[in-house]
Amino acid sequence: MQAETAQETMQALVIDRTGEAEELHLAEVQRPLRISDEVLVRVVAASVNPIDVKTRAGRGTSAAIGRYPAVLGHDFAGVVEQVPYAAHPLRPGDRVYGMVRVPRMPGTHAEYTTVSSMSLAPMPASLDFAHAAAVPLAALTAWGAVVDTARVHDGQRVLIHAGAGGVGHFAVQFAAYFGATVTTTASPRNAEFLRALGAHRVVDYTSERFEEVARDQDVVIDLIGNVKDATGTRSLDALRPGGLIVTVPTGSWPTMRDEAKARGIRATGYVVSPDARTLAVITRLIDDGAVRVHLDRVLPLAEGAEAHRLIEAGHVRGKLVLRVAPDPA
Ligand SMILES: NC(=O)c1ccc[n+]([C@@H]2O[C@H](COP(=O)([O-])OP(=O)(O)OC[C@H]3O[C@@H](n4cnc5c(N)ncnc54)[C@H](OP(=O)(O)O)[C@@H]3O)[C@@H](O)[C@H]2O)c1
Repeated sequence: MQAETAQETMQALVIDRTGEAEELHLAEVQRPLRISDEVLVRVVAASVNPIDVKTRAGRGTSAAIGRYPAVLGHDFAGVVEQVPYAAHPLRPGDRVYGMVRVPRMPGTHAEYTTVSSMSLAPMPASLDFAHAAAVPLAALTAWGAVVDTARVHDGQRVLIHAGAGGVGHFAVQFAAYFGATVTTTASPRNAEFLRALGAHRVVDYTSERFEEVARDQDVVIDLIGNVKDATGTRSLDALRPGGLIVTVPTGSWPTMRDEAKARGIRATGYVVSPDARTLAVITRLIDDGAVRVHLDRVLPLAEGAEAHRLIEAGHVRGKLVLRVAPDPA
């Protein structure tokens, strides 16, 4: 095992202050020091999530940024560099993927990251690093909302908003895998893509009102929130009495629970947690071919600002990934 020294540095995509995407730039920063149960990982690829974009813009989790320059980025695929103890189940050289708690921990948009042993898992054998990096945060969120919270099962009707996005394209597949009849909202260019992932019906939100075509749903997984076109409030019209709405962009609809209760509908938010055991289950579904990972595009780390702009524009299909290093042989 390599000795841990405080002086080592690394390349990272950083911000010196919150603001526009142009604040993002490459810099040489201190490599994070592994402590207690953490694993030090050499990052090969890392995805960009809306929370990175919101935080960079001064919203999201920006209030918790302890110091600048700050490295953002929640998930990664890479190679184990150091483990906490000799008999640890992971070994240096193992291919892993996972999720860290940014900004309490340094982020993954860098050459190295440290991650709790509870928050990473061996990478799916069937994926390259770019595809693997796209999975952890988005797929754990989809699983947490669809499986752990809504307990979606055979015979249910489930409406998923924004099925074509990072979280959505996993949510559609998980809900279909567990036997639900899945309706999802998207623009027409994504209809074919979503049907191929298992959606039974794709509602074109640009020309149709989803609550008029999708009625008596058991569950709504809302990945838009009430910030756009009153998507949350209108979802109450799509649910049966006693149905459940899970709103993932938390905080976008402060009166949700009261409005839902008045209609006899159950409502909750959901917040993702880095969870190695769930990630291992997702790994199996991916390696079994039951779940696919879609990359919109892969950009070099230096072009992180472009990735932020694309997410801000709101029409990424699947995931955006930053390449930090070439795939190891
Ligand atoms: N609480 C948590 O722990 C947690 C975790 C992860 C994500 N989130 C939040 O959940 C939201 C979704 O995340 P994400 O990563 O999936 O985002 P994303 O990948 O950026 O979502 C992009 C997708 O949204 C679709 N879209 C845009 N406007 C739409 C509309 N009005 N109706 C239906 N679809 C629309 C787009 O499809 P078209 O191109 O077809 O329009 C695009 O494919 C974000 O707000 C994110 O911050 C929260």
